[in-house]
Amino acid sequence: MRLAIFLLILCIFEYAVAVDQTNFKTCDQSSFCRRCRNVKPDNTKFALVPGTLNIYSDSITADLQHKDNKHLFSLKLEGIEKGDTFRLLIDEKTPLKPRYRVVDSLKEIPKPGSIKVQEGQGELTITSGSNKAVVVADPFRIDFYQNNVLTVSVNAKGLLTFEHLRPKPQELGTDSPDANEVKSSDEITDPGAWEENFKSHHDSKPYGPEAVALDFSFPEAEVLFGIPEHADSFVLKSTSGTDPYRLYNTDVFEYILDSKMALYGSVPVLYGHGPKRTAGVFWQNAAETWVDIYTAEKNVVSSIVNFVSGSSKTDPPAAHFMSESGIIDVFILLGPSPIDVFKQYTELTGSGPLPQMFALAYHQSRWNYNSEDDVEEVSAKFDEYDIPMDTMWLDIEYTDGKRYFTWDKFKFSNPLGMFRNLSKLGRHMVIIIDPHIKRDDQYFFHKDCTERGLYTKTREGKDYEGWCWPGAASYPDFFNPEVRAYYASQYLPSNFKTVTADVMIWNDMNEPSVFNGPEVTMPKDMIHYGNWEHRDVHNLYGHMHVMGTFDGLLGRDPNQRPYILTRSHFAGTQRYASIWTGDNTADWGHLQHSLKMCLSEAVAGFSFCGADVGGFFGNPDAELFARWYQTGAFLPFFRGHAHIDTKRREPWLFPEDTRLIVRDAIRKRYAFLPLWYTMFYEHEMTGEPVMRPLLAHYPQDKEGYNIDYEFLLQDRLLVRPVMDRGASKVNVYFPSTDDKKTGDVWYDINTLKKYTNAGYESLPVDSRTIPVFQRGGTIIPKKERIRRAATLMKNDPYTLVVCLDRAGKAQGTLYIDDEKSYAYRKGEFNYLLFEFENGQLNVNFKSKPNFKTTAWIERVVIAGLDRTPKSATLIVGGVSQDLEVLPHEEGVAIRKPGISVLELFTIRLNF
Ligand code: NOJ
Repeated sequence: MRLAIFLLILCIFEYAVAVDQTNFKTCDQSSFCRRCRNVKPDNTKFALVPGTLNIYSDSITADLQHKDNKHLFSLKLEGIEKGDTFRLLIDEKTPLKPRYRVVDSLKEIPKPGSIKVQEGQGELTITSGSNKAVVVADPFRIDFYQNNVLTVSVNAKGLLTFEHLRPKPQELGTDSPDANEVKSSDEITDPGAWEENFKSHHDSKPYGPEAVALDFSFPEAEVLFGIPEHADSFVLKSTSGTDPYRLYNTDVFEYILDSKMALYGSVPVLYGHGPKRTAGVFWQNAAETWVDIYTAEKNVVSSIVNFVSGSSKTDPPAAHFMSESGIIDVFILLGPSPIDVFKQYTELTGSGPLPQMFALAYHQSRWNYNSEDDVEEVSAKFDEYDIPMDTMWLDIEYTDGKRYFTWDKFKFSNPLGMFRNLSKLGRHMVIIIDPHIKRDDQYFFHKDCTERGLYTKTREGKDYEGWCWPGAASYPDFFNPEVRAYYASQYLPSNFKTVTADVMIWNDMNEPSVFNGPEVTMPKDMIHYGNWEHRDVHNLYGHMHVMGTFDGLLGRDPNQRPYILTRSHFAGTQRYASIWTGDNTADWGHLQHSLKMCLSEAVAGFSFCGADVGGFFGNPDAELFARWYQTGAFLPFFRGHAHIDTKRREPWLFPEDTRLIVRDAIRKRYAFLPLWYTMFYEHEMTGEPVMRPLLAHYPQDKEGYNIDYEFLLQDRLLVRPVMDRGASKVNVYFPSTDDKKTGDVWYDINTLKKYTNAGYESLPVDSRTIPVFQRGGTIIPKKERIRRAATLMKNDPYTLVVCLDRAGKAQGTLYIDDEKSYAYRKGEFNYLLFEFENGQLNVNFKSKPNFKTTAWIERVVIAGLDRTPKSATLIVGGVSQDLEVLPHEEGVAIRKPGISVLELFTIRLNF
């Protein structure tokens, strides 16, 4: 027992100090990464086998062979019906045992569409819609064309690797026919091929080497981006001379910045972008993966060669994906625009569903709020200081000894009373539920899992045991549908009696984090449902956990949209949960990276992303704290959170001016909630990200490619937070729409001051400034009567902010529903389109208004008019009424139109 406590203290202590990088592998310390990286380019060993081609109406299949060892692989290529997408599958033809295929990441199995096939000399052309794939038999490669432009090449570098499963060398009899094969052409001599040690951990590797790898070139691209989660720039850096980017869900606390190290989530989608085209690849593999990046950096030798030969060609940017096991299952997304390619990806993996309104508002968390009194007091203080707040969070200390689904009865003797009190104020609560289960024979959950065999197993068939917050813990095998069903049932009111249906869930530590495991996670030779090794599925563990939670919340209340925050994530997790960037630090670099990281996540399907505001580790000073709130207010997920060892940091604990700045930032968030809500509805409908890099809308503007300290919200707002200490000015970059360096018109959201030049603009800032600009040509809905919680603002009136483009036009949408239930999926919503042209504002319904509301429009603000109107006329149902027009900042405001959002109307300006 004493030893156990000592170990736990050690773990917690270790957890609280900076990351020790030596706890995590480098590529060189990972046998398969070493092997794949050692493959020499331009000499692929693979070729299609003549005479094995089968042509079907929607796909082709053929045998692929390794020329040296003669091993056969089956290749399948499909043209996907929706979106300009191909799917390439390569597996062993007759593997010694089946190899793992990811199934849970896709929203459904994508339907292949009809193709046409033309056979040529040593090659094959497969046409799907306006796209084609040219498959070259020997040396094997595939070129993908979008509208006759070569957009993605597969195996152009010849780095394809497919290690077939084989008997363990010493297990071969000398007369076994396989023995020669293994010794001669097929030998894998890497010492880690059949077992591998890392620090004190041993990986038994019963199936030996089974890596897969492939390279993708993007001839039209200048930059590559994607493959979150890394604390690095948005645009991927060359990995020449460094480690590759790593995708392996791990609990890396106090992670370092500008690093290619793996973090909590892995989303293996990567994009190549250039002024004319964007394309992508989605590498659907859940095993540990490393990605080498080749960027088109010209080196001196190639420049001289090109100069002499008169060629201006350099190798196009390329990526080399290397995974430890599984099959090659890759989607080629052909764009051609950035938005097209993002949609092609979400068409496969799904988009984030519209959250409840409260989830888009401000969340207050810390590890930990210590008691019901503490919660009540904090909530009351927000009211006292008139700072809006929707949700209070409880971290692990609320539980009875880290036994999830239980409460510490001393600190939280009446949780239902606490929830009711918060509900009365319009507030919500989110509580944490981690996947590790305390090994305590008195704990019902552990008893059930033990008796019913629900835990992940060791090779010997015992329940796997690791260390986490509760001490000795085991890990439910969420890959088993029965486990997910059991887990989900724990949320039923009949089981979890101490929460109400409004209490939502935070799933943390689900990489899974195992304090005493290799690289702080589960050993790879543990066994999951279906007899799959943890090695095959590692990056999906958190995803499966979250699926169980989602089912649980739906089962508890089928008509309420579940809200979940998860740390671990994989492609497709966005269908169930929002994410945050984990254990950051209270410093300026981490503030800056929160933005880059969420941008990478957004283009990989995770629009609902944020970072711990204020920084998890350490104590932010007043300036950093205030700037972090100003930034967080414009990121999709907005939550203050802090480590247990940090000083309390609720806004009123800072000097008054800081408190007021924070208040102001949070209130701005609330003012823009109608826009956030509309954007998230549109995100669910279209799959287009909410938060976007500049290149999403300014694809030709090369200067913008590397700017990841500002971002767009849809194409409506440009956000350039102040993220440097002592800043008295910021350099805002207004992107250009074409090569002539003209751009859009932008308006400061506070002053409505107009900016008409593309390029850098140095703008003065003070401690209150959040540089945010509305694009000319858009109309944004806001609410300006800020209340204590967003849920209380439902029927409040709207303000429309109309910012005109150079032609004096603008348009924008507003989405309204009950902000909570699934009734919107049955059509109970209003979706309005506002258009301004020729001095007149009109509204139309994008679909028949079907949601009853008393909300109305109380003000219309217009910026960018070239003349000042004398008055305005409101026309509703043929009846006209004069309205007053007053100066407002650098624009005008039409006062009190007083129109219901359910009515069609026109407002005409009179000059
Ligand atoms: C790790 C999480 O990243 C952090 O946010 C949380 O406070 C701690 N676990 C304790 O639950």
